[in-house]
Amino acid sequence: MTTAKPAIRHYLQFKDLTREEYVYLFERARWIKAQFKAYQRYWPLADRTLVMIFEKASTRTRLSFEAGMQQLGGVAIYLNTRDSQLGRGEPIEDSAQVISRMSDIVMIRTFEQTMVERFAANSRVPVINGLTNEYHPCQIMADIFTYIEHRGPIQGKTVAWIGDSNNVCNTWLQAAEVLDFKVHVATPAGYEVEPERAGLHGAGHFRQFADSMEAARGADIVTTDVWTSMGFEAENEARMRDFADFQVDGEMMGVAQPDAIFLHCLPAHRGEEVTAEVIDGPQSFVWDEAENRMHVQKALMEYLLLGRVNNS
Ligand code: CP
Ligand code: NVA
Repeated sequence: MTTAKPAIRHYLQFKDLTREEYVYLFERARWIKAQFKAYQRYWPLADRTLVMIFEKASTRTRLSFEAGMQQLGGVAIYLNTRDSQLGRGEPIEDSAQVISRMSDIVMIRTFEQTMVERFAANSRVPVINGLTNEYHPCQIMADIFTYIEHRGPIQGKTVAWIGDSNNVCNTWLQAAEVLDFKVHVATPAGYEVEPERAGLHGAGHFRQFADSMEAARGADIVTTDVWTSMGFEAENEARMRDFADFQVDGEMMGVAQPDAIFLHCLPAHRGEEVTAEVIDGPQSFVWDEAENRMHVQKALMEYLLLGRVNNS
């Protein structure tokens, strides 16, 4: 008798997991974080290898995946475009075949979403999106975990996204549908959310605003990101002009809920998308947010490799 091999699960977009799976993962991340804080050794991924492929720069994503894998008992290997054959035109499909035969799980940071999709289609092991031009799912998992830690469930809450409708914004929009909360997006004219990223308008999870103060009014989370994302540097000068009125400052935090929190995926540019007063102020949780990348990604890697684990 042959038993069917379980299908490989990838994490390429936020909607690749269900609400029920996120409930499990947030609880799991909480337990894994507590073990880490108590200096408890927890090595469920001993002998497992994570390969991390970077086609763009990173501090947090590299560190959180590498340290996280090590803390789970496994090893992490770093590859980048500059000094691997990826930068010399080896097809992504061939790279996926080879890399996935020598590893147990892969994380990729690259340009087009189609690159991670093509890699995953040719991979024998789970693939995680570590940021593409379109999405950054691990970031939003960490952001929501941070909100839950400090304020409780996110269902029914309102997130105000101020600035560029980029990869991080697109991921908030997906998360709003999966976890049932609202996103108010304020962008300059010409930088609005692309229709294919906006999801099901009918479900009422997303509203576009031209006025950033209106978007922030009554919000539970106020969040933003750089005006120029990686890969868009040629537009930097125009963007500095176009986004000048889309800065999160104290006045904007003042129209949000009194217990609203400020989040930023980092790296941040003080004086551009956010004032120092806000990012370094009492409503900012950006350092917890950055740290939580590691805890949620440990839960994610454990889940993709071992399924549900019940030792908490
Ligand atoms: N937030 C985030 O992904 O940071 P890095 O670019 O440093 O990885
Ligand atoms: N939107 C930013 C996020 C960096 C973590 C970028 O893509 O550069």
